[in-house]
Amino acid sequence: MSLKYVNVKFKVSRKQMGWGDLGVFGEPNKETPYLDQMAAEGMLFPDFYSANPLCSPSRAALLTGRLPIRNGFYTTNGHARNAYTPQNIVGGIPDEEILLPELLQKAGYKSKLVGKWHLGHQAKYLPLKHGFDEWFGAPNCHFGPYDNVHTPNIPVYRNEEMAGRYYQDFKIEKNGESNLTQLYTQEAVEFITRMHNKSKPFFLYWAVDATHEPLYASKPFLGTSNRGLYGDVVRELDSAVGKILASLRSLKIDNNTLVFFSSDNGGATYAKQHGGSNGPFLCGKETTFEGGMREPTIAWWPGHIKKGQVSHQVGSLMDLYTTFVDFAEVAMPTDRVIDGISLRASLLNNTNVQRPLFYYRGNQIMAVRKGSYKAHLWTWTNSIEEFKKGTNFCPGQDIAGVTTHNQTDHTSKPLLFHIGRDPGEKYPISPNTPEYKKEMPLLMKEIQNHMVLLVPATPQLNMCDEGVMNWAPAGCNKGQNKCYKGPPSKPYNCTWPH
Ligand SMILES: *[C@@H]1O[C@H](CO)[C@@H](O)[C@H](O)[C@H]1NC(C)=O
Repeated sequence: MSLKYVNVKFKVSRKQMGWGDLGVFGEPNKETPYLDQMAAEGMLFPDFYSANPLCSPSRAALLTGRLPIRNGFYTTNGHARNAYTPQNIVGGIPDEEILLPELLQKAGYKSKLVGKWHLGHQAKYLPLKHGFDEWFGAPNCHFGPYDNVHTPNIPVYRNEEMAGRYYQDFKIEKNGESNLTQLYTQEAVEFITRMHNKSKPFFLYWAVDATHEPLYASKPFLGTSNRGLYGDVVRELDSAVGKILASLRSLKIDNNTLVFFSSDNGGATYAKQHGGSNGPFLCGKETTFEGGMREPTIAWWPGHIKKGQVSHQVGSLMDLYTTFVDFAEVAMPTDRVIDGISLRASLLNNTNVQRPLFYYRGNQIMAVRKGSYKAHLWTWTNSIEEFKKGTNFCPGQDIAGVTTHNQTDHTSKPLLFHIGRDPGEKYPISPNTPEYKKEMPLLMKEIQNHMVLLVPATPQLNMCDEGVMNWAPAGCNKGQNKCYKGPPSKPYNCTWPH
């Protein structure tokens, strides 16, 4: 095994894919044969988490190996609010952060992002300024269509310049038909083939939009799933993973390529049948209950990861940073706290290390897990006003004192769950029990240790400005000429409802 030339490839499905969306994780329609096969040939991680219950902070954490509170992807506008990078966000990933491709570059890796970035869309924040050599995809979500007067359509970039805009040039039809996943799959296979032909080690971050609303699939997949349109999207994603793994096999670099599949936050329970399934877990995206942050995760590396294993390692997307840097034999930065751990031993020997896991919502640490115990210091689903307007993060899962619509401070007597016996966080362990008295101090000690080293970064997601939207991205004046004139800059404090 020549670790120096391990290709590392990571795919994260667009948000909204939940833990329970894959056949191998128990989805009853069993419509993900390729991902199930990937798991059968590799390692399943049922205890794997995103670093945040929302897309942008989750992705920033993945690429920096650090919690959003440390890399700046959070807000202090309101307590415990989730924030992300819509078109009017002013901030983005700070230059001081060292992104995964910047480290892999030192070992000669070429890196490509295919799909959504979401780490800031102003020019200085884009992927090629932060270690990626190539990019095909968009800086923001594929929301729209917009009118290009009040709001511009989202640009699709090829490297440093816009190649067109969603809806105008990259079609997403009202009936849900779009070829985007096909396009993103071709880009992945083309990159892998080209890097192989040049004998270059590569890092492919395949971060497709699919499974995020508005849902879309290409014609051959529309109407094929028993789960409706959401299932069509999952089926296309599953088939795309099959194509990418097949390309590695046919180039005979499967034994030389570590592939991870995961998702950036829990299924969007508020989207009802248009959202994913979080299996037995409580609530979904936007929350720090298990449904918001547990991710369907599979690692695959024929010849190195033994077939058909289950790892009980408590893992985080931030670990991919540390793991890939470890396998690429690059030195980790020593001037900062890295929250990820290397999964080398888990992958190669199926061993586990005990580690605490911290659940944040914006600027607030909400919960901690260690072993099978999880303590909630704060609980919140969403405000009662939002809930009454129809936004429900926990449909059919109202648990008194747990799924609270007030931000509820439990720090003097945190809620304790054993998430092995009670994965749905339904039955808090009574503070009067010996079990509580034994376990709670251990969890609180982890919080204290964490807080001692915590230096919150300047929050990047506080300011909004309609003037910074994607009016005139680089290259908009070429070809189809799609530059638009926006309003003058007028920054204001963003409002984050959740
Ligand atoms: C998708 O690609 C097919 C084949 O090229 C084409 O016929 C169809 O119009 C495309 N669909 C959209 C929505 O762009």
